[in-house]
Amino acid sequence: MKISVFGLGYVGCISLGCLAKNGHKVIGVDINENKIKLINQGRPTIIEKDIDLIMEEQFKLGNVSATRDSAAAVSSTELSIIAVGTPSTARGHLDLKYIFNVAQDIGRALAKKDTFHIVAIRSTVLPGTCDKVAKMIEEASGKQRNKDFAIVDNPEFLREGSAVSDYYNPPLTLVGSDNADAARQVANLYANLPGEIVITDLGVAEIMKYVNNTYHALKISFANEVGNICAEMGIDSHRVMEIFCKDKQLNISPYYFKPGFAYGGSCLPKDLKGFQTLAHDHYVSIPVIAGIGITNENQILRAVQLLQRFSGKKYGFLGLSFKAGTDDLRNSPAVRVVESLLGKGEQVMIYDKNINETLLTGTNKDYVDARIPHLSSLLCHNIKKLVELSDVLVVNTTEKEFMDILSEEKHKTIVDFVRISDCLLGRSNYIGINWSSKVGGSHVSGEDTVV
Ligand SMILES: NC(=O)c1ccc[n+]([C@@H]2O[C@H](COP(=O)([O-])OP(=O)(O)OC[C@H]3O[C@@H](n4cnc5c(N)ncnc54)[C@H](O)[C@@H]3O)[C@@H](O)[C@H]2O)c1
Repeated sequence: MKISVFGLGYVGCISLGCLAKNGHKVIGVDINENKIKLINQGRPTIIEKDIDLIMEEQFKLGNVSATRDSAAAVSSTELSIIAVGTPSTARGHLDLKYIFNVAQDIGRALAKKDTFHIVAIRSTVLPGTCDKVAKMIEEASGKQRNKDFAIVDNPEFLREGSAVSDYYNPPLTLVGSDNADAARQVANLYANLPGEIVITDLGVAEIMKYVNNTYHALKISFANEVGNICAEMGIDSHRVMEIFCKDKQLNISPYYFKPGFAYGGSCLPKDLKGFQTLAHDHYVSIPVIAGIGITNENQILRAVQLLQRFSGKKYGFLGLSFKAGTDDLRNSPAVRVVESLLGKGEQVMIYDKNINETLLTGTNKDYVDARIPHLSSLLCHNIKKLVELSDVLVVNTTEKEFMDILSEEKHKTIVDFVRISDCLLGRSNYIGINWSSKVGGSHVSGEDTVV
């Protein structure tokens, strides 16, 4: 493929060399004359292991060159990759001026080009940027998105210091677009690399890098807070985290990584508090760990606020315990939501096959009695009857019988705290607590594609 790469810094230089090595003809574009000169001498613009050898070899083969002339670069290629910097402004916002300058350059060049062109953003950009870039290109070129050109997000995951090796060994390759054909063409550039190629919608692709990097920062900070507590107690924190990482079922795993409702139950809140108190008693500051409880409270508040949109309607709760398959109501966030709704004078009914008010004992009973003293008057033991009598169905646990009845329910509002099934997405009567209720947004298809 003939490719132009805008921006010859770390990301652009690696893309230029490695794409050429993979058999493509690649033209680099930069506003820095010195970088253009270096590429046209067969030298890289950055210091990275192996990139000098790749660049020298590919230059000799005539596969790489560089220019300041963006119009010439666009007109002689089928795909333009944008890899310019996206620094922070003084106030912490993303500064997209370099991206927008390139969008205008590409737009002006496309005005004179008759063939279809793909624009792939490799820089780290916030959701919505690809749409803005496409609009700018349309305005500058007079051309139409998805008729004359397509926009693709293809975020870069390499790390400086191991950039070439990372390029050839990506954990996954991510391609987002509303144009299936353009997405596939960009995905094909990486077909020879290991790791899954995931094709998804633009919003998902754009936000992914931020989610990844925020999580990496969270991991480091979490490990440091654990380390600080351990150090105060004479415990080897490295041994602790080494053992922590051995649990691939619950710790280092997809488990729990599902946006939804607050955590509850008898263990997580209690043990989190215990750990916080331990840190406090040793004068160790742990803002990351301390923030966890605040986030959990916010999620309960979010649920109440979401339900209050339907104030005056009859709420039917499907499940009250803190998770499916248990009658444990201790610290169940749904109990807090019900308590809050009742306090606001709302009408609530509850169906939970695991809960029998006469069998509740001990701390479980005490917890409910303190919050919903007249629980028995709210319980409805017939799910069909509850659905019939409710206006708003609130899904709190993932029991199969809930899905069976909800899949038939086309009229009553369904508020889902647990993403009980993707089958409900897209219905006009369906709202998820923290996910888009639309099917796929600007997806290429409803499902992500793994190539
Ligand atoms: N550096 C990394 O390790 C890394 C890793 C993954 C993602 N990213 C992301 O990739 C993007 C690029 O990062 P980088 O470190 O390569 O940036 P960089 O600052 O090293 O390079 C950016 C290049 O863009 C050029 N440029 C600016 N305006 C231009 C224009 N109008 N036309 C052509 N070229 C122009 C600059 O002269 C510079 O050479 C950023 O969004 C960054 O967040 C970086």
